Amino acid sequence: MWSRSVPSLALDLVTPGDEGWRDRLADHLLALTPVSRQNRFLASTAESMLRRHAETTAPACLVEARIEGETCGFAELHLAGGEAEIALSVVDRWQGRGIGRLLFTRAAREGWRRGATEEAVYYLRSNQAMRRIAEGAGFVRVPDDDPAVAHARALVPVSRLTRLWRTGTRAFARA
Ligand SMILES: CC(C)(COP(=O)(O)OP(=O)(O)OC[C@H]1O[C@@H](n2cnc3c(N)ncnc32)[C@H](O)[C@@H]1OP(=O)(O)O)[C@@H](O)C(=O)NCCC(=O)NCCS
Repeated sequence: MWSRSVPSLALDLVTPGDEGWRDRLADHLLALTPVSRQNRFLASTAESMLRRHAETTAPACLVEARIEGETCGFAELHLAGGEAEIALSVVDRWQGRGIGRLLFTRAAREGWRRGATEEAVYYLRSNQAMRRIAEGAGFVRVPDDDPAVAHARALVPVSRLTRLWRTGTRAFARA
């Protein structure tokens, strides 16, 4: 997928079995500024924690944003039961160019495609860019115990439910 705002941007779906993504994710996280790391992990995060995250995270899949082959962003999609959670980051020098919104939209779409009935994202309340992305994608704030953290959720879109219902009805009619 190519972005209109960054002509040479590519978004690739990465699955856990693919090679090399943990190293690329580690390099990406380590390249983030302290403020972006804090926004990504909702707290100050030491380099050792970032490396550990890249070594151990177990997403259902990731979306990787690349410009001329260089990674500039990652979204992780985690699935548990029918719930998906999305976390993402864009390297600082490429922020504000629409890449975060594209990464989020692609990850959310992948979550619905993989059968999630609900999706969630957590971000610091001060994180205006993430708030705009979540709201733009139809995510709605719900109460969270942590006063510094915003927790936004979305239910499976009606269009997808309708598609599933039609598929189910056709399968039932064939049976
Ligand atoms: C949050 C993040 C992913 C957004 O990615 P991005 O590529 O910079 O965002 P986009 O360019 O797609 O912009 C999305 C929206 O935020 C707005 N925005 C971007 N930067 C902003 C800023 N610094 N302040 C306020 N709004 C901002 C844009 O105008 C756009 O809104 P609009 O389309 O309604 O006008 C990126 O800033 C980032 O990686 N931050 C560190 C990690 C993080 O915060 N992750 C989220 C929690 S998991």
